[in-house]
Amino acid sequence: MIICAATEKGGPGKSTLITNLAATLAARGMRVLLVDLDPQRTARTWGLMRQQAAEQENIPAIESIYLEGPQIIPKLAMDYDITLIDTSARDDETTREAVLISDLVLVALAFGGPDFIHLEHTIKQIIRKAIRHRQFDQPERPLHAGIVMNKVRSRSTMVREIRKRCEDLIAEDDQIALLKSDCAQRDDYIGAFLQGLGVEEYAPRDKAAGEIRMLINELSKRYQMPTSPQTSHLRIH
Ligand SMILES: Nc1ncnc2c1ncn2[C@@H]1O[C@H](COP(=O)(O)OP(=O)(O)OP(=O)(O)O)[C@@H](O)[C@H]1O
Ligand SMILES: [Mg+2]
Repeated sequence: MIICAATEKGGPGKSTLITNLAATLAARGMRVLLVDLDPQRTARTWGLMRQQAAEQENIPAIESIYLEGPQIIPKLAMDYDITLIDTSARDDETTREAVLISDLVLVALAFGGPDFIHLEHTIKQIIRKAIRHRQFDQPERPLHAGIVMNKVRSRSTMVREIRKRCEDLIAEDDQIALLKSDCAQRDDYIGAFLQGLGVEEYAPRDKAAGEIRMLINELSKRYQMPTSPQTSHLRIH
């Protein structure tokens, strides 16, 4: 399965979500490929820090690469249980192509007014167009998108207001969902990143780790995202 994080807005948490999925799924024994398409190389830098951490601690290493374009990803993905792609905040050719080769797009939405306005643009200009393109091009392989609210600071009426606006925005879109699992603004996400870890490795009993586990459960139930090694990889070469 290929999952890509794409939001046309800087800083909502694309790299944070994708690196946490990578770490948690790798810890479950899965073969994870982490592809960074963002010239800032945030995910790749995390991958290099993780490599060092994996040499010193008992945590699984994760294959991470930086690519200028996504063309070869489907071929590379065949050797992994899951491929996770991080993209830049730009609505450019690279991001659009990455969305088009994915099975699932995670749209990170930071809790905030301007972020919601940019979400509308991402949905209209990138996600809906890609879903239509896929329906035409590969009707047997529908593209799905899940919006993940991140950096939520309180259970306030404003959180409900933003969720309601999201629901209204995607009311007619069968293949776009606002996910139930959201992530709060927590220092664990920052601390884990700085050590090349996921929050589950960094502070397994803390709330951030619970949030990522909930997100993974939801992705598994809703989109059949694999959460354990795939037996098809047991083939003999
Ligand atoms: N849930 C969270 N709690 C606290 N800090 C967070 C959370 N999610 C992300 N951050 C912080 O917010 C900043 C932006 O996050 P991140 O780099 O993951 O976003 P991004 O969408 O990948 O950004 P860019 O568009 O620049 O690639 C980082 O400093 C990160 O540590
Ligand atoms: Mg990023």
